[in-house]
Amino acid sequence: MDGEYPLAQAFIVLWIMIPAYLANTIAVVTGGRFPIDQGKKLGDGNRILGDGKTWSGLLGGTIGGIIVGYVQLNFGTSFVDNIEPGIAGTNNETFWGDTPFLIFFLLAFGALFGDLTASFFKRRLNLNRGDKYTLLDMYDFIIMSLLLSFILGGGWLQTWIFDGTVPLFTLLIATPILHRGVNIIGYKLGVKNEPW
Ligand code: CTP
Ligand code: MG
Repeated sequence: MDGEYPLAQAFIVLWIMIPAYLANTIAVVTGGRFPIDQGKKLGDGNRILGDGKTWSGLLGGTIGGIIVGYVQLNFGTSFVDNIEPGIAGTNNETFWGDTPFLIFFLLAFGALFGDLTASFFKRRLNLNRGDKYTLLDMYDFIIMSLLLSFILGGGWLQTWIFDGTVPLFTLLIATPILHRGVNIIGYKLGVKNEPW
């Protein structure tokens, strides 16, 4: 990819991040059991992470995100191949690199780990579970997802993300919209307590 196909780049980066976006959504469904911090508090009197961060969410979201990636890998051929002009020389088999499951894991686990890290800081700021911290809530998961994939993904991420300004700009714009949209749906369906 050489930055000549901005629209294709934008679609690709959103496609790539689907396991990360959905990992969070799946965690809301599977979550709620076995708080990771086991109810423990720090010196500031607040919970380490709070009841919103559980093993069932972390595990369910990670496994769920990997399954989502697997579905994309096996059923995304027409999508990837149609966008091919922008990613010449790639097909769906090579698209995810040599270690697709490692990538799915890093994207999904990274998203949940980012969300968990943010909760740690929210508790330090005396914010209760579910309290709003707009900027952090919207970007925490995507940042850690990208970071883990960048460090541990064996150079795979770099080929798609750090090519001109379009991919990162797309994430910057689309992430809050998708995040918010999915959460409102979850709220309406009754699986999420707050619409953010
Ligand atoms: N969830 C979970 N385990 C995780 C992540 C999420 O069980 N690792 C579930 C929890 O039931 C949580 C819900 O998904 O309440 C929504 O997630 P989120 O908005 O991230 O948590 P909050 O309840 O808002 O808590 P916090 O203030 O710590 O973000
Ligand atoms: Mg929240």
